[in-house]
Amino acid sequence: MNILTYTSNEELSAYAADFILDLVRAKPDAVLGLATGETPIGVYEQLVDRHRKSQVSFRQVKVFNLDEYAGLSPGHEQSYQTYMRKHLFSGIDLPSEHAYIPCGIADDLSAAARDYDRLLEEAGPLDLQLLGIGHNGHIGFNEPGEELYAETHVVKLTDETRAANSRYFELLEEVPEYAVTMGLGPIMRARQVLLIVRGENKAAVLKKALYGPVTTQCPASLLQLHPRLTVLLDEGAAKEL
Ligand code: PGA
Repeated sequence: MNILTYTSNEELSAYAADFILDLVRAKPDAVLGLATGETPIGVYEQLVDRHRKSQVSFRQVKVFNLDEYAGLSPGHEQSYQTYMRKHLFSGIDLPSEHAYIPCGIADDLSAAARDYDRLLEEAGPLDLQLLGIGHNGHIGFNEPGEELYAETHVVKLTDETRAANSRYFELLEEVPEYAVTMGLGPIMRARQVLLIVRGENKAAVLKKALYGPVTTQCPASLLQLHPRLTVLLDEGAAKEL
């Protein structure tokens, strides 16, 4: 595991953006696993900026997002479709048909999840999975519990996750109770994983994830088993390491 700590979000995000851009430069048809949340916003900002300056093209790239809220239409302000369009897709030349996000509004969410896994499998292993971590150790929306799943699945969000994400909604009750998330399979099979963690309020969970027991109670702890894990931190997140 390679751990790098940065003093500013700008530096951290720049490193991550260059990491992704270098990968696409070396492999123009790279398959990228992408994340949402507050953490990667700076990365996407810099990626858009660097994409414009470097002219590295995303025309052959495919991206698969980790998750989507169940019940939010793609046009909903807080859907991850909207997030990705706003923060990344509108600023790069990725063809829209190469941008995959789990479907949160199908009549049969489980069937849609199986379709998503089929698409993932056809695309081949992810060349890179970008990840954040939840305060409870979740990756994607793989929440702590007795079991973890390899496949894309519907998940009931924990109270902690809903409370954390309620900052984007007017009321806690508006935060969806369910989501669809990629399972641990494609994440662990990704050729590389880039985990980004910012803020002192993630320091304790990060320590647990990287140095505690590997357990379903802290899904990010499985990353200890990944052969090519790079962890990018700010000083707050690195505080307990
Ligand atoms: P955050 O979310 O970047 O908004 O803290 C991370 C996560 O829940 O995976």
